[in-house]
Amino acid sequence: MTLSFREIKPSILSTLLELLCLGAKSKPIEISTSELGKRLGKSQQSMSKHIIELEKLGLIDVTYRRRRTVIKLTENGISILLSLYSTLREVFEEVPNIIELTGTVFSGLGEGSYYVTIEGYRKQFIKKLGFDPYPGTLNVRLASIMEKRQRKALEYYSGISIEGFNDEYRTYGGAKCFPVIINDTVEGAIVLTKRSLYDESVLEIIAPVNLRAKLNLRDGDKVRLKVYISEKSINSKSD
Ligand code: CDP
Repeated sequence: MTLSFREIKPSILSTLLELLCLGAKSKPIEISTSELGKRLGKSQQSMSKHIIELEKLGLIDVTYRRRRTVIKLTENGISILLSLYSTLREVFEEVPNIIELTGTVFSGLGEGSYYVTIEGYRKQFIKKLGFDPYPGTLNVRLASIMEKRQRKALEYYSGISIEGFNDEYRTYGGAKCFPVIINDTVEGAIVLTKRSLYDESVLEIIAPVNLRAKLNLRDGDKVRLKVYISEKSINSKSD
């Protein structure tokens, strides 16, 4: 589950930030509710209630030792802070935000061509990305742990939003896209869907052309991807 800082109350975000600064990201910290309350401008009683609320939301793990609490941020708690971090970085960073990744091409089950050609998606790709995609997605598997982390980090950037929609039979989920240049030559876009067939080591790429034909790619070949992740870099790319 990827949560955004925009989906939670400001008071919860302040507490998560305070716990982060106290070191609760990598190991449990021991602190009394009155001490934590003092830091956050809350009484001991309301801090205790607040901690229970954060625990119920699955943002922290709490145990009690004598009269003190032992608190650690959970993965969900950290993911909220990461979403804030990514947004701040997007806003403050001077340079266009580009991630460079390498991965290996592989064949999937032919689902990509089905989705890309659905009119509700295709129209949005044309309007928002500026090209009519070749029917299919090129699947690329990332190899290193660092790159998988960067792939995960993409989830926190807003990218270019593709809205979900319904037809008379079913619901089609939303997605987001990031412009990409493949092997320094062809422009396309990475498509991240909420419910992908693949795990987090895989990226799916659409492009106006058949990438295998254009770049002479076969299964197992390596590709270099330059991913434009922030609004600023997306805009600077089209300058
Ligand atoms: O079977 P798979 O899911 O990999 O394929 P697909 O998404 O249905 O796409 C059909 C074929 O076109 C696959 O071999 C893709 O790798 C390839 N493709 C491409 O070369 N360039 C694109 N822009 C999109 C797909």
